[in-house]
This record gives sequence, C-alpha cells and structure tokens, in this order.
Amino acid sequence: MRSVKAILFYFLNLSILSTAFSAVDIIAHRGASAYAPENTLASVDLALELDADGIEIDVHVSADGRLMVIHDGSTGRTCNEDVIIQKTHSHTLRQLDAGSWKGPEWKDEKIPFLEEVLERVPLNTKLFIECKTKDPKLFLQALEPLWSRHQERLQSSILISFHAPILSAFKREYPEQMVIWLIEEMESLEAYARHIKEGGKRLFDGLGVDHELGISDHDITTHLASGHLLSVWTVDQPRWVSYYTSKGFAFFTTNRPDLVQLNKNTQVTK
Ligand code: G3P
Ligand code: CA
Repeated sequence: MRSVKAILFYFLNLSILSTAFSAVDIIAHRGASAYAPENTLASVDLALELDADGIEIDVHVSADGRLMVIHDGSTGRTCNEDVIIQKTHSHTLRQLDAGSWKGPEWKDEKIPFLEEVLERVPLNTKLFIECKTKDPKLFLQALEPLWSRHQERLQSSILISFHAPILSAFKREYPEQMVIWLIEEMESLEAYARHIKEGGKRLFDGLGVDHELGISDHDITTHLASGHLLSVWTVDQPRWVSYYTSKGFAFFTTNRPDLVQLNKNTQVTK
C-alpha cells in the first residue's frame, strides 16, 4: 500500500508535466551523449551543466541483480571488453572502461550504478529511466532496494520502456508512478489508439514516438486527445523544437541539449 504522500506526489507530477506544453522540455538522451560517452556520469554531469530540463538513461540488470546504466545488453560497443550484462557480476562490469571509445579524455568513466545517477540528478531535473530488460520480475527485484534511500528521486522519475509488460508490472506495484510507452511501429500506436477509442483503459501516462516514424498531424491529434503526454526521440536538429512544441509535445529527447536549448530560447524571446 503506497502512502498518501506518494499519491499526492503523483498528482503534483501530473499537473507539472501537463502544464509543460508551452515550451517542450529538452531531455538529454543518454546524457549529453553527442559530447560525452553515453550513459556515463560524465554525460549526466554535462547535461546538467548544459541546463537540460531532463536526462534520459538506460538500465540493464547485472548477474548479481544490480541496475547498471548502459544502453546495449552487452558491453562491446561502449567498453573495452565485450561481456553480456545479465551474465556478468557488477564488480566485473565496474572494472571496464566505458569512456575511451568516445575519446582518451574519458578513459576513467565506468558503467554507472543507477544509484549514482539518482544521487546526482537534482529533483528539479526530470529523470527518464528506460528499462531495457524485458523481464519485469528481474527489474522490480533490482529496483526494490533503491526505494528506501532514493524515494523522492524515484517518485519524481519517469519509467520508459518499449516493453509494455514492464510498464504494466511496474504500474501494478507503484500505481502513482509515471510511465511512458515507447512506440517503435505505427501499428502499435494505431492498435493502442483503437483500444482507447473503444473505451479501453488508459494504460500509460505518456507515449513516446520515434522521430523517424514521421508521425502525422492526425496521429498527434488523436493521441493527444486521448490524454497522454507525448514525447519524441531522438532529434538533433533544432528546427524541430518549434514543430513539436506547436503540436503540444511535452518532451523532446536529443543528444545535443545545448543546441536545442539555444534554439528554444531564441524562439521564446521572438
Ligand atoms: O528516449 C527513448 C529512446 O532512448 C529509445 O531509444 O534505443 O535510444 O534507447 P534508444
Ligand atoms: Ca534510451
């Protein structure tokens, strides 16, 4: 049973997020990942320095049940050795160099524990945690021990995932938490829209769409009308900020939060 405070927190979040439409919030994708190695503390710190409205990170579960901040299920692309996260103890994962692939100046970057990001990102910066594991039980078990020390930060974070069962399981356990479903295919969006139109239950607080899907004005109107917050990823060209703002999107996810921020400010003062 969740506390009354937690439920109030949910409605406060909902109202803050719902009124954020006049200027879309700029979310730093995997941190400021155009400039620093993605999903590292360096990229999180840089996103904060660049004044991003929010930060998005990805998490996988290690063999010993720790939530590790990394995009891929294995370390080959972003570390100096290739191991599978789910089969590797966090102690071993922490020995890896998660920065040199981006440049020698990042050689000391490690794969962060989720706790380190929770400690770092202030409550006035939105935090989007993308769950990459497809196993709800594994995810919930790994998350459980973090609630006691990071309750406020977790309560004001948003869980995002491509995997609807992850979001449903999380929402069952923590009904007051915000969740956004990431949509890869138009068919999924259309099927969900039909479900809502036919009086089905709203399963998610928001919907995230891939910019590459080229979502139409009609789709946007339909899904906004269904009361979901809308989010788009990953857009690095500043000119799209005004487009998505005008369409009522709440969140704009980019690898280059500074360029987009600059453009947003320019447009606001015009
Ligand atoms: O913010 C959503 C976006 O991050 C999903 O795609 O592959 O970058 O995790 P991906
Ligand atoms: Ca992601």
